[in-house]
Amino acid sequence: MKTLFFVLLTVTLASAQTLTWQPVQPGIWKATVGKPEAYNLLTASGAMPNIVALTKLGQTTFPLPKLAISARVIDGKTYLRFPLNRTEQLYGFGLNFQTVHQRGRILNLHVDHYGGTDNGRTHAPTPFYVSSDGYGVFINSARYMTVYAGTAVRKDSPDPPVSQDRNTDKSWTSRPYSDAVEILVPAAGVEIYVFGGPKPLDVVRRYNLFNGGGCLPPRWGLGFQQRVPKLYTAGEVQAEADAFEHKGFPLDVVGLEPGWQSKSYPCTFEWDKTRFPDPKGFLTTMLNKGVRANLWLNPYVSPSASIFSAISPFTASHTVWTGQVPDLTLPQAQRIFFGQLAKDGVVPGVSGYKIDEVDGYDWWLWPDVATFPSGHAAEQMRQTYGLLMQQHSLALYKQQNRRTFGLIRASNGGGSSFPYVIYNDYYKHQDFITALINSSFAGVLWTPEVRSSDSSEEWIRRFQTVVFSPLAMINAWDSGAKPWSFADVSQEVQELALLRMRMMPYWYSEFANYHFDGTPPFRAMNLEEGFRADVKHELLTTSLEKNPYAEAVRQEIKDQYMAGEYLLVAPLFAGQKSRTVTLPTGNWYDFYTGELVGNGQQITVTPGLDRIPVFVKDGGLIPLMPARLHAPKPGEVVPIEIRYYGSKPGTYRLYDDDGETFNYEKGQYSFRTIRVSKQPNGRISGTISPPEPGKPNTIGTVTFMQMTK
Ligand code: GAL
Repeated sequence: MKTLFFVLLTVTLASAQTLTWQPVQPGIWKATVGKPEAYNLLTASGAMPNIVALTKLGQTTFPLPKLAISARVIDGKTYLRFPLNRTEQLYGFGLNFQTVHQRGRILNLHVDHYGGTDNGRTHAPTPFYVSSDGYGVFINSARYMTVYAGTAVRKDSPDPPVSQDRNTDKSWTSRPYSDAVEILVPAAGVEIYVFGGPKPLDVVRRYNLFNGGGCLPPRWGLGFQQRVPKLYTAGEVQAEADAFEHKGFPLDVVGLEPGWQSKSYPCTFEWDKTRFPDPKGFLTTMLNKGVRANLWLNPYVSPSASIFSAISPFTASHTVWTGQVPDLTLPQAQRIFFGQLAKDGVVPGVSGYKIDEVDGYDWWLWPDVATFPSGHAAEQMRQTYGLLMQQHSLALYKQQNRRTFGLIRASNGGGSSFPYVIYNDYYKHQDFITALINSSFAGVLWTPEVRSSDSSEEWIRRFQTVVFSPLAMINAWDSGAKPWSFADVSQEVQELALLRMRMMPYWYSEFANYHFDGTPPFRAMNLEEGFRADVKHELLTTSLEKNPYAEAVRQEIKDQYMAGEYLLVAPLFAGQKSRTVTLPTGNWYDFYTGELVGNGQQITVTPGLDRIPVFVKDGGLIPLMPARLHAPKPGEVVPIEIRYYGSKPGTYRLYDDDGETFNYEKGQYSFRTIRVSKQPNGRISGTISPPEPGKPNTIGTVTFMQMTK
């Protein structure tokens, strides 16, 4: 009897739970499995949905067959299974560097410094995936989870692979077809969210809006950033800013590396009085030059820090580089740690932080056996430490009603709205571009930062991509490189940096779309309508149905991306003289000349060293301002030139606000509608809607330029 009861109990526990899907926002559903842990990615990030924008996106129907989703809790772990169709492709599962298509991959989602393999260990291992069929799934857990993204085959599978005989069948494969995504979460329950489409871009928008919408940087954040060698003094930093001005290179932010502090690492978070005797005076002098200062830190507290004894009771059992690790889930630790940042940094005028080394490598980070006074597991703290740092440092800027735009080395699900860009120490240029593509599926921003180069060719190729990225930055903390370091391409580099400045109205409006509509400003081609739908090329020859794994590794396009609404960027890498570009359907035009280049096909381009291939969609409008060395000041009125490409009527929503405060959150912003169309005589006519009364208006004279003749 006892045995029978035990068997019955085991069967019941192991049998799949029927999930109840609660609509939580239009087009978003939540199901609860077992007993989810109270501490998860959404509680750590504090993300709150943008209900107004989600409501505007509207309702959809539940995008998956409900009965095909299963969940079981066995032995303290949650087993999840989601169905896959034969032709479906998967994107996401965090900030991957070498692959875009994730179907056929096995990943252990784990915050870590990227180690050269897409195995789930990365700077933002967001447990979110997007299907080409137009839905998304988010697992809200702060645990390391294992994902089998279409690799595992259950014996009761509804769509099993055909059994093959290797002895006789040449097409035998070691990776048979799998009809499911299966995920193991090491917790006795979890929350699951499903996001509707109908298009993959709608899924991504919903995901970002559910996390509060993407960040809106200040205008100056979209200018140029130079990070200086780690032991530079105040005098040297000022001289560097003067050199930029003198040579005519744009500069909005200077980044100070570890040596601004009296000790690092571990850190004191206090200025070094020999290198920076008068921090407030230094910050003011810099600001008068139109340049802001960003400060490097890692959060590990030095015994020499003035906050050390106060924060010590609220730190972890283990140290990192002998520094104590604040338990940032505790209000006491938050008060002490961020109080110090406010005192020496935010209040005197520091523009933001570069929050380093919150990701890993295992051998220096706290181990999984570490304990934290809050009782959260070391694993949960590792998955969320970047989120905590972003959330609480942002709060300091909100208190001042000043926007920030900083750098971070780890983030996770729930972090879309944080004004931080991910970077790392890895340096493969091609992989940096693949990361830029994948950032759009992970709810994060990524910079392909330039550090140093072996040749002027590599220097300029890297510089070209950083100019078409969320953060245009040279990180010279070690190399001491300047934009003009390679004299033979220095003029081209200067022109690129000035182009970045000219494009500020475009970048700014695209970030406003990220914030208000959830559309990532830099994104995968796979989110673009018409991409590959009608590619006149043998690209689509391998049958995904026959061998999804082969498709995953061979046919993905991971070296071109969309920048804003209208631009397609196809970088070249050192050593390349020409490359192919896959154009979505519709006419595409050369960004520089306005000439038609193709429609839904692969083209080959051979640009000179001075050009990064950029293409514009038919009807594309690109707002530009005059070239300048610093972002416009709040309220400064600038003239706008609208470039028009192709022949379709074009519209653009040009965003405007004060550029620096959070007043946009209270409605102090406007989108001005620009319309351009071609007249029967071949000339163009353009209009811009009037400014909204009572709203900031920085848009001066507007001129229109016909790029396609
Ligand atoms: C690294 C970081 C570099 C630089 C350096 C300074 O961890 O990725 O960009 O800041 O620390 O020590």
